[in-house]
Amino acid sequence: METDTFIQQWIETIDIRKVQKSDLPALEWDGEFTRFREVYLMEFERSQIGSSILWVADKPGIGVIGQLFVQLNAERQELANGHTRAYMYAFRIRPAYRNAGLGTRMMQVMEEDLRRRGFCWVTLNVGKTNYAARRLYSRLGFRVVAHEDGRWSYRDDKGILQNVEEPAWRMEKFISRVL
Ligand SMILES: CC(C)(COP(=O)(O)OP(=O)(O)OC[C@H]1O[C@@H](n2cnc3c(N)ncnc32)[C@H](O)[C@@H]1OP(=O)(O)O)[C@@H](O)C(=O)NCCC(=O)NCCS
Repeated sequence: METDTFIQQWIETIDIRKVQKSDLPALEWDGEFTRFREVYLMEFERSQIGSSILWVADKPGIGVIGQLFVQLNAERQELANGHTRAYMYAFRIRPAYRNAGLGTRMMQVMEEDLRRRGFCWVTLNVGKTNYAARRLYSRLGFRVVAHEDGRWSYRDDKGILQNVEEPAWRMEKFISRVL
C-alpha cells in the first residue's frame, strides 16, 4: 500500500505534455535513436498541422523520459481515418523508469485526449516477440485483430534509406461511444 502511494506520488510529478520543437534532440535518447532524426522532424511537422499528436513524459530536473505518438490520419484508413480511429506508435519509456505505471499513465492521457476529440478506436502494432508490451496492451483492453508484415522504410540521419521488417500484431481498443 505504501509502495502504491509512493508510485502514485512519483507519477504525479511527471508532466505529460505535447512535444515542442526544442524537445526533438531529447527524443534521440543520447544517440540510441539518432537514426530517427528525420522521422521525428517530419512527425513534428505533421503535429503542427493537426495530423498527429506527439506526447512526452517530462520529469522535472531530468527531462524527457518517455514518448508516445498518435497519428489521427494515415494512408491506411484501417489504422487512422481522421475522425473515429487513431493509431499510436513510437511508444517508449526510458529503461530506468519502466514498470512503475508511467506507460499506463501516458496511454490514459492519450485516450482521454482522443475521446475529447470524438475518436472512439485506438489501433497499434506490437512486434510479435514483444511479449511484455503485448501483455500491457491486453491488460489495458486492446485485442489482437490482424497480422501485420511490419514492413516500412525511413531515411536515417545520414540520408540513407533503411528498410525495416518486424512482423507484428495489430491491436485495437474501443475507447468511447460515437456521439
Ligand atoms: C512498453 C513500455 C512503453 C511500457 O512502459 P512502462 O512504463 O514500463 O509501463 P507500465 O509501468 O505502466 O506497465 C508495465 C508493467 O509494469 C507493471 N506496473 C505498473 N505499475 C506498477 C507498480 N506500481 N509496481 C509494479 N509494477 C507495476 C504493470 O502492471 C505492467 O505489467 P503488465 O504489463 O504485466 O501488466 C516500456 O516497457 C518500453 O519502453 N518498452 C520498450 C519499447 C517498447 O517495446 N515499446 C512498445 C512498442 S509496441
